[in-house]
Amino acid sequence: MTFKKISFLLSACLWCGAALAQNITISTPKTSMVLSAPIGGNLNYVYYGSKLSPTDLENIETTHPSLYSAYPVYGMNCPTEAALAVKHADGNMSLEMEVVNVTTRIEKDGELTVVELKDKIYPFFVNVYYKTFNGTDVIETWTEIKHQEKKPVSLNRFHSAYLPIRRGNVWLTHLYGSWANEGKVIQEPLQPGVKMIKNKDGLRNSHTAHPEVLFSLDGRPQENSGAVIGAALCYSGNYKLMVDTHDDEYHHFFAGINEENSAYTLPKEEVFTTPALALTYTNEGLSGSSRNFHGWARQYKLANGNQPRKILLNSWEGVYFDINQEGMDQMMNDIASMGGELFVMDDGWFGDKYQRNTDNSSLGDWVVDTRKLPDGIEGLLRDAKKNGVKFGIWLEPEMANTTSELYEKHPEWIIQAPQRDPVLGRGGTQVVLDLTNPQVQDFIYQLVDNLMTNYPEIDYIKWDANMAIMNHGSTYLANDKQSHLYIDYHRGLEKVCQRIRAKYPDLTIQACASGGGRVNYGLLPYFDEFWVSDNTDALQRIYMQWGTSYFFPAIAMGSHISACPNHQTFRTIPLKYRIDVAMSGRLGMEIQPKNMSEEEKALCKNAIAAYKEIRPIVQFGDLYRLQSPYDNLGVASLLYATPEKDKAVFYWWKTEQFANQHLPRVKMAGLDPDQVYTIKELNRVDNEPLSFEGKRFTGAYLMANGLDIPYSHKLDYHKLNDYASRVLYLEAAQ
Ligand code: DGJ
Repeated sequence: MTFKKISFLLSACLWCGAALAQNITISTPKTSMVLSAPIGGNLNYVYYGSKLSPTDLENIETTHPSLYSAYPVYGMNCPTEAALAVKHADGNMSLEMEVVNVTTRIEKDGELTVVELKDKIYPFFVNVYYKTFNGTDVIETWTEIKHQEKKPVSLNRFHSAYLPIRRGNVWLTHLYGSWANEGKVIQEPLQPGVKMIKNKDGLRNSHTAHPEVLFSLDGRPQENSGAVIGAALCYSGNYKLMVDTHDDEYHHFFAGINEENSAYTLPKEEVFTTPALALTYTNEGLSGSSRNFHGWARQYKLANGNQPRKILLNSWEGVYFDINQEGMDQMMNDIASMGGELFVMDDGWFGDKYQRNTDNSSLGDWVVDTRKLPDGIEGLLRDAKKNGVKFGIWLEPEMANTTSELYEKHPEWIIQAPQRDPVLGRGGTQVVLDLTNPQVQDFIYQLVDNLMTNYPEIDYIKWDANMAIMNHGSTYLANDKQSHLYIDYHRGLEKVCQRIRAKYPDLTIQACASGGGRVNYGLLPYFDEFWVSDNTDALQRIYMQWGTSYFFPAIAMGSHISACPNHQTFRTIPLKYRIDVAMSGRLGMEIQPKNMSEEEKALCKNAIAAYKEIRPIVQFGDLYRLQSPYDNLGVASLLYATPEKDKAVFYWWKTEQFANQHLPRVKMAGLDPDQVYTIKELNRVDNEPLSFEGKRFTGAYLMANGLDIPYSHKLDYHKLNDYASRVLYLEAAQ
């Protein structure tokens, strides 16, 4: 595809009319972004919001003055924050960029606009990219930085993007949390000062915080109304998102790689590409922003985002490290008999010289432990076939233990500060392999390639990563490039992922990192899904999945029915409620089925059958969050609807239990007001049906009033409990 050169004047005809000869408009179906880009002048930001008409476009600058650079650089306005700060080869710390060219081209999946900038004095260049994606309201923006100076230039800060956001009553929604408590929502009004969201783990970048944020522009965030700008940094490594507010009319939002301990020495002609920042704008509140991200993700940013996900049983909480042939066969048989489609064998299956009976050995020694599995992977695949399920396997490819044959052979392959003993991780022996090293990249690629070549029937890989980069140092990187470690690690990881995906596009791969430590759009193009959290407690999952859903679609959220008392919170929750929560994501099980009663198995079997019916709605539908658990009103509720609005699934979970309690009646959203829907309860356990079972209501009624959901279940006395939940299936009359 060749670039269409668009000159200063040509851009006038193509985009905006003669009056806006220097402006660029990036358009999506419902949004516009306007930039001012006169050749020889500055690239400035003008407008980002709902779609502009030709009349509004003509006059936009009279009311949206282009005050701020669209990619501010350091040196000629030092007191303000900058996206890019460098030290030239001669020691000069300043940049002053001017537009030298603007081009646009139609690509198969959208349109790409490139604004080429050059320093006024130095042979130093920045290309600023804006990419739209057909059928979505998402614009990705990123930069490419390069130079032709005689000696390397030091990049001291290299954010992906900057966006000024008009002040008023702007609220920020973002996620925080840590192991077993990921994706918690925090909402706060933006105040003067700096709000910083950052990560320094090196590897797991969605533990502690998340590189995605939402700005509600009209005051306190609303789910289904109000203007919202969403931003997601598509990066798997350390990041910094910063909102700087001082005494002017804008909040100044920057996002990019965290430059701390990562100054980058850029040689002549090497291109430094920053990760994309995905932006979206909507007038339909936080849920509208989520729908924009979800649609874009399923179409463009999630491996196999258009393929339904299988219902699986994962062995971890069922048997932990206690893997053996008969046990795996029994679990496969059990999940098959409940209607499941896939069995995944988790940790504990490998190791020869060192046996993996706990977490302190064998990572890196990816050979079957024949003491546990005498028939090897062949035997497991044979049993999977016999039981009529697919088979998946756990790996932690980026890691080793010091008690491993791999470490004995290649001690130089680990990340370690020069001249110091490595700081060790999980089990007191875990270390991170140095993915900056191409030999390590090959080792990891070959691990997957050999496995898949030898056993092409393997359907699924759970790719785990349970350690931070604790030590700074690489034996592969040159002494003057040690500060490249964090960045080059993720480049190395991406290269491996690209190679794997080029050969195995259909393999399902889950991103797991001590639970939800790797939930980001840097990696998801290579992964089909992620493990939301190691915490499988249904009540806490409501909060975590709620937060995660702000940016990530249900199809990608591994959500499993587990045992009680729960292994992380020790809470006892009835199976019906555990099922109803798990069914709002990518349904799976994380349990030892042989410890379940026949009645429990029957309930799960029934739920799995029901999930198969609603799977297209949950996994490909539009999300409407209705009642937030974070409002502390005693109930949480959400709904998925098909794009045609002919079918919907409504979830309702009580989040606390008191006698004589009063809960709000939840109004639905996302339905067609003129359609008539029939209500059917799924996973019913009550002795009698709901009063509105099988009854018909208009979408208008359901959205204005909702249904009065009973606060508890009608059960025999000995079965009464303190949890209530409902899943309602709504189908419009033909
Ligand atoms: C951490 C993961 O999050 C768990 O699901 C499990 O796979 C363990 N690692 C295995 O060691």
